[in-house]
Amino acid sequence: LKTVACGAVGYLSNSYLQQYRKRQIEPLIPQKPEDKSISKTLSKEAKTRFGLECLIADLDDHDFDDLLTLSKDKIVVFLLATYGEGEPTDNAISFNRHVQGWTENSQQGDSTLHYAGFGLGNSSYQFYNEMIKYVDSALASNAAHRIGNIGLGDDGKGTLEEDFLLWKEATLPQLAQHFGLTERSYTYEPSFLVERQGAPTNDTFLGEPNKKYLRNKPRGPYTLSNPYAAPLICARELCVNGTRKFLHTELDLSGSTLSYEAGDHLAIRPTNSDLEVKRFLRVFGLHDIQKDEIAVSSNDSAIKAPIPSLTTHEAVARYYLDICASVSRQLLRTAANFAPTNNAKAQLQILSTQPAAFQRYVSDRCLNIAQVLELIEPTVAWKNVPFSMLLEYIPVMKPRYYSISSSPLSSKRVVSITTVVQTTKFPEAIEDFKGVATNYLLALSEPSERNLQKSTHQVSGPRQRYSKPTSLVSIRRSKFKLPQHPETPIIMIGPGTGVAPFRGFLQTRVQLRKEAKSVGRTMLFYGCRKKSEDFLYETEWQEFEHVLTPEVFSFNVAFSREEGQPKQYVQHLFAKHAEDLRDLVLRKGAHVYICGDAHRMARDVFKTMASVIAGDSQFNNDVDKAQEHLVLLKGSGRWLEDVW
Ligand code: 2AM
Repeated sequence: LKTVACGAVGYLSNSYLQQYRKRQIEPLIPQKPEDKSISKTLSKEAKTRFGLECLIADLDDHDFDDLLTLSKDKIVVFLLATYGEGEPTDNAISFNRHVQGWTENSQQGDSTLHYAGFGLGNSSYQFYNEMIKYVDSALASNAAHRIGNIGLGDDGKGTLEEDFLLWKEATLPQLAQHFGLTERSYTYEPSFLVERQGAPTNDTFLGEPNKKYLRNKPRGPYTLSNPYAAPLICARELCVNGTRKFLHTELDLSGSTLSYEAGDHLAIRPTNSDLEVKRFLRVFGLHDIQKDEIAVSSNDSAIKAPIPSLTTHEAVARYYLDICASVSRQLLRTAANFAPTNNAKAQLQILSTQPAAFQRYVSDRCLNIAQVLELIEPTVAWKNVPFSMLLEYIPVMKPRYYSISSSPLSSKRVVSITTVVQTTKFPEAIEDFKGVATNYLLALSEPSERNLQKSTHQVSGPRQRYSKPTSLVSIRRSKFKLPQHPETPIIMIGPGTGVAPFRGFLQTRVQLRKEAKSVGRTMLFYGCRKKSEDFLYETEWQEFEHVLTPEVFSFNVAFSREEGQPKQYVQHLFAKHAEDLRDLVLRKGAHVYICGDAHRMARDVFKTMASVIAGDSQFNNDVDKAQEHLVLLKGSGRWLEDVW
């Protein structure tokens, strides 16, 4: 073992390495999928380019007692994500505690540790990349030796992957230099062995999420890895306008043990559209063998294949890989070695080594891998690209999470979500960009225009026969919940589809009221563009007002693009209700909820609310003090955000 690179978050010693090989445990349990993919990318490239041996480990699987005194023949690479208000991911909590110990007992000049670091953060949050910055400064105070600069990945600007690539390109050669290693000539070492067999059998995965489905016996408990195939009750468009469609989708949970509360999230596994599946198979020359069974095994016992085996190329493209994900520069760089023509190779080399060209021609147009390769070389199939390489670089199909827009009190077996399907138009004859999951939901609502094949739209594979279309779902618990006591006042702020969970909250309060229970003041601030365009659930708010009475339920709507009227956002309505808001927040113990856009809206709402609260005599117009008060509310769980 020459060195140790550690992954999202971890670090490994020799003894741990043996243990880990024996147990054959999954080397890294990622908190975020990208944690895993970036640590894999880094370790693979270190190995192939410089012959550096790397291990990826989860921080939770290790004790850190000897970290600061680690010898020079190893380097630890910290890949650390920051959550929420500067918090560590769940698997880094004990590590974080350990690092606090370093800062308290720092022994200047003592550490022999050599390290590098990259953070995964989001600049929309105040404590941007706090974890990696904190660990770096704690190591500096112990005089550990850093190699290269700390990289800061920014999910907020959507540049996380590019930030990582730039950091990796600068740092890897420095790590190699530390060990006196020089770059090798390129040889692709496949991580997976993909063998073609005969026709599919009953053991071939054709979209099934796991073995229980394969045996046609799906059984609870239903979880993310064992989702429930929930029959579709209805999928309708709430309002239609041009490039944006708002969808209300209801699914039936009655055949499952799944339960939820208003404010929870629904995880949905989408499938890729027929158009993209066909393109993918065509581009890689897999069309003729798409239905043959393939066996996929790993060449390294420490790495698990990302898809089930046995399966088919078609099932991989349709169900298991996110083939529509934005293509990475890294993938293009590797694909260049397998280009069918010299011209195609040269073009890929430019795109993969010049970030500005990549940005302009690939990222800004949201192209997926097959689209890029098809644009570069439309006539010859890219047959030389090893399928193993695609399995390594294309992310697996991930579930998408949506705020539930119903309440179990309204109907226990029904769960609904509210989504907006946007199509991004590009000039220069580039195809429109369509989101995978929302267009999958749209396909459910438009059987005639379904862009998913009829049979494959049965997400659990053709073996399963359902009388209705189904979606593979599970529930994720959230902290975005109504207060325990129905009498506690609530203030809900949700522009756009951010109003979704509040429909659920209101259904709960309406039901309680119908049962003659007393319900506290309930204020909703909702915002949309135009009454005639995107006013979601317009008649329902009136019905809620009717049951709850206007004294209890106050519904306030802001229109931002109504002709002849000034632009109005949700927070602009606060001034009119200033007295009420101050009273509810400062004296009546109201809970405040914000749902929707994290980038600007949630911040603007926070600031405006602080200036309203500052008008109370206790703050004497001191906005900073009012902000501090709101931060305390966040800490005590009375200011809750569900933002993205
Ligand atoms: P706009 O797009 O017309 O500017 C739902 O997306 C609603 O939120 C729209 O009416 C949108 O207005 C509005 N919106 C955009 N930015 C906002 C912000 N910073 N704060 C509050 N609402 C915002």
